[in-house]
Amino acid sequence: MGYDLDPLARLISRVGSTRVRESAVWECFDELKAYCLKNQKYQARLNWIDSDQETLDFIDYWFAPEQERQLRRIAKFLHAENPDFRSNVKNILVVALSRLIISKEPKASLARDTAHSRPHKTIETNDFDIHEHYENSIKHVLSALNSKEIKTNSTAYLGDARRLSRINDSTVDAIITSPPYLNAIDYMRGHKFSLIWFGYNLSYLRAIRSSAIGAETAVSSGNGREFDELMSTLKLKNINARTSSLLSRYYNDLRVQLGESKRVLKPRKKALYVIGNSSIRGEHIKNSEVLKFAAHKVGFKITDESIREIPNNKRYLPMSVGKENSLSQRMRTEHIIEMAA
Ligand SMILES: C[S@@+](CC[C@H](N)C(=O)[O-])C[C@H]1O[C@@H](n2cnc3c(N)ncnc32)[C@H](O)[C@@H]1O
Repeated sequence: MGYDLDPLARLISRVGSTRVRESAVWECFDELKAYCLKNQKYQARLNWIDSDQETLDFIDYWFAPEQERQLRRIAKFLHAENPDFRSNVKNILVVALSRLIISKEPKASLARDTAHSRPHKTIETNDFDIHEHYENSIKHVLSALNSKEIKTNSTAYLGDARRLSRINDSTVDAIITSPPYLNAIDYMRGHKFSLIWFGYNLSYLRAIRSSAIGAETAVSSGNGREFDELMSTLKLKNINARTSSLLSRYYNDLRVQLGESKRVLKPRKKALYVIGNSSIRGEHIKNSEVLKFAAHKVGFKITDESIREIPNNKRYLPMSVGKENSLSQRMRTEHIIEMAA
């Protein structure tokens, strides 16, 4: 069972941990192609887009007319009023389509670097044919999934990991998670390019983004004395009031989340957190220390910690050679922290 606030992260987790019959995926893809062919003369209407000027303007800016027409038809076929009820077969087609939208080079959209959450426009016209590339993308998703190896299906919930209200106290055997790093990646900047085709408009996605752990919204945490203690542990030098306030919110978010993990875990069972360090306005922030400090405060005992280098090709933000102080430098290593309830 898993939780994520971001509908795309949740969908990818769900698809990645649910068995599927491959022939059913291809049958559904044939139906999708037939549907698009039959309706190719019409502009498919999508209510959540067509009733929202901001989302329409966004599409107008980031997508060329032909890809918009193709995406509208595909979205009409795949969309479910309630994504909980969309079949897993269709979910696979959604993830495969997302790969053609959230990409390094411009594909279905006019943006580059959407996959690195830094979309920027480098082309004004687009001859990318979504239908031509869709089949290969599905093949890629199916081969990465390797469905036969999945022993049991998971349930991925759209929800806040700081409030695991579905889960009773002391009922969980193990937790594996990777919380966001302070100020590191704004996933929604890239993910919205895909999510707008599946029932979400921009204002809805903005609201989700602002409730994410580590979101750049300065709110005082209410853990004053504890936070002062953390600050003296971190020994930060050049930190202004705004950064301190962001860090305070981040600390509070992590603390509340860790409290929930502690609550749901059975006694002495373990939680494994993967977290990278980051830098904020030039100051190196040891997120791993913040996490351990919070874990300790909610009653966890740290039982192990290892550090691994993130290979260049696995990095969410690519390394740019010769730029030692660049954005990408933050993401060089990550800490794997094991703790016992
Ligand atoms: C470092 S990523 C890990 C993604 C994925 N679980 C994985 O391991 O590949 C952090 C994830 O935390 C999610 N997130 C941020 N705040 C959250 C919250 N309050 N509740 C649940 N998920 C949250 C983000 O949407 C993002 O997908």
